[in-house]
Amino acid sequence: MPSSDKAAPRGNEKGGASDSGKREALIKSLNGDLAREFQAIIAYVVYSQVLKGAEYMNIAAELEKHAGEELQHALTIAKQVDYLGGTPTVQPEPVKSTDDNKEMLRADLNNENDTIKNYRLRVRQCEELGEYAMAELVREILIDEQDHQIALATALGIDPPKL
Ligand SMILES: [Fe+2]
Ligand SMILES: [Fe+2]
Repeated sequence: MPSSDKAAPRGNEKGGASDSGKREALIKSLNGDLAREFQAIIAYVVYSQVLKGAEYMNIAAELEKHAGEELQHALTIAKQVDYLGGTPTVQPEPVKSTDDNKEMLRADLNNENDTIKNYRLRVRQCEELGEYAMAELVREILIDEQDHQIALATALGIDPPKL
């Protein structure tokens, strides 16, 4: 529960309204990240079980691992939203429904690309507000997301996209 103490903007005596506006924007952005983490959890839980064919069994096992990592990311991001005085979203981004192996992997790859771009922005937003520890937590998530991107690109036989 966000106490009034926790929700109060800190260190903004000089920054005033613009600083609190930036904090609101960060809460909104982090809730977008949380919705993408929920999307990733759902996609990895389901796709890891329904991928078919011997040549997809390695990546299926890998996706099962991703599911657990995305859950940890969701917990970390929800904690940051609460810490900033916001309410963590309960709505995932929509998950593509398909029984085609390659379409599943492509959907995951597109989502990871989107997630990586967003977390890079988020590191900057956190640092602008002096939230250096939060920026560090986002960097750690970013390392996992880049690993996910590489695993998916490799399974699809393509180079990881330059973002
Ligand atoms: Fe994630
Ligand atoms: Fe990921």
